[in-house]
Amino acid sequence: MLVIAGTASQRLSHAIAAGLHAPLARTEIKRFPDGECYVRILDPLKGEVALVVQNSYPDHNIIELFLLQDAARRAGAGRIITLIPYFGYARQDKLFLPGQAVSALALARHIEMDADAIITVDIHNPETMAAFSKPAVNASAMPAVGQFLRGKVDLLLSPDKGSVERVRLAAEIAGLPFDHLEKTRTDPSTVQIAPKKLDVAGKRVGVVDDVIATGGTMIKAAEHLRAQGASQICAACTHGLFSSGALERLRSAFDAVYACDTIETEASVISAAQPLVRYIREI
Ligand code: R5P
Repeated sequence: MLVIAGTASQRLSHAIAAGLHAPLARTEIKRFPDGECYVRILDPLKGEVALVVQNSYPDHNIIELFLLQDAARRAGAGRIITLIPYFGYARQDKLFLPGQAVSALALARHIEMDADAIITVDIHNPETMAAFSKPAVNASAMPAVGQFLRGKVDLLLSPDKGSVERVRLAAEIAGLPFDHLEKTRTDPSTVQIAPKKLDVAGKRVGVVDDVIATGGTMIKAAEHLRAQGASQICAACTHGLFSSGALERLRSAFDAVYACDTIETEASVISAAQPLVRYIREI
């Protein structure tokens, strides 16, 4: 197997290659003056398994992903496993209004054209994986999050009931109790957390979510926990998008903010590589 690292996923690709004891293919990836992407794989892949690692976020990385898959096929890869650490567009996963595109499904259809198997991580709605007609796995980085938080907090919380199964995975590894808050979203940028009595007074609490985008969900959770007397609170997630200055706002609201390396930012201090290596070996 050779690992083909897209520009959005360099750090994670290196960690995965080390974990798999697989070489990284040499590549040339650049942008033309007009912004178009150029991709070349410099090593022959004749019959090898090519593990293409690249996010489908933001938009320009989607084109690079398609080109890396195409180059891997043309370089003679025997099998292409496409690993999308952060599956962008996953939140538009159904028709909410007539006439819309269902972005998650459109992306899935195009990604699998040049893939023999697909792995992604903590996708917004795991049911989206059913859109793939090839072997496809929704891996979870929650074991890595749990490992990282072990000893740092006394309790894990998910901001809503829907995410509680993810948090359970982290809590099991960390050996911690877990619970959930009651979140409702009134529009894409406004959330409310319903009052819920929790036993957090004097405790160190970790709030864990799959994605932090605007930070609105996490900040509401922080207000709630401070009001109930939590002694320390940290925010942890798989995918730290941190749109529009969210990281600054989160750092004012929380004692610490941690994210995985599925998206590379200054907060990505947790590596998803170890759980991913296991999934890659299985697929
Ligand atoms: C929603 O269902 C997700 O699990 C996250 O809670 C959400 O995407 C976070 O978005 P934001 O940071 O904008 O509140």
